[in-house]
Amino acid sequence: MTDYNNYLKNDNPVDEFASWFKEALEVEDNGSYFTLSTLAADGGVNARTLLLKSVVDKKLLFFTNYDSVKGSEIEANDKVSMTFFWNKLGKQVRIRGAATKASKQTSMDYFKSRGFESQVASYISDQSSPVDSREILENEFAIARDKFKEEGVPYPEKWGGYLVDPYEITFFLYGDHRLNDRFQFIKDNGKWHSKRLYP
Ligand SMILES: Cc1cc2nc3c(=O)[nH]c(=O)nc-3n(C[C@H](O)[C@H](O)[C@H](O)COP(=O)(O)O)c2cc1C
Repeated sequence: MTDYNNYLKNDNPVDEFASWFKEALEVEDNGSYFTLSTLAADGGVNARTLLLKSVVDKKLLFFTNYDSVKGSEIEANDKVSMTFFWNKLGKQVRIRGAATKASKQTSMDYFKSRGFESQVASYISDQSSPVDSREILENEFAIARDKFKEEGVPYPEKWGGYLVDPYEITFFLYGDHRLNDRFQFIKDNGKWHSKRLYP
């Protein structure tokens, strides 16, 4: 095998990512933050910060509003890119993959596990749509909070998970003297191939 076994502990790069992610959650203040890039309708690129929930069956799970800009963009083109940067660890990972909606059960279970006010905020939000004022937003929040105080917030179908199935993963590690390390894995016909890259 190649000379990067010193750095990478798993043969499967998604398992390797999962172990980096686990370490990041322990060491970093915000280890689950990542940038999700999507292809926009005008042919340009869009990107925003999200939270990664977990790695499930070699796929990366995050939650959002399906009717948001990113939701429409994924609907039109399921290819996304996810960028993680962990400052204390001196590591970066770029993942390219195809996104599909998680099962409704997965989304409902996670929705119910969130705090009451987070549930209310997701319920009332028409994420990425214009809202005329902060006051309108706060009113909608207050009305829903009172309404669902006793009975709980119903699961909003517009909200749920996406699972990203990676086909390319690039690991980056800080090295001494700015001589960093990069290892790229590309999936071809179900099999991962790897190479070292100039950093
Ligand atoms: C630190 C941080 C974490 C965020 N996490 C999420 C998230 O997990 N899901 C989400 O839908 N939006 C999250 N957001 C908001 C998104 O960055 C973005 O503004 C929103 O999803 C709308 O994006 P869109 O219009 O491109 O669809 C987060 C923002 C920040 C700053």
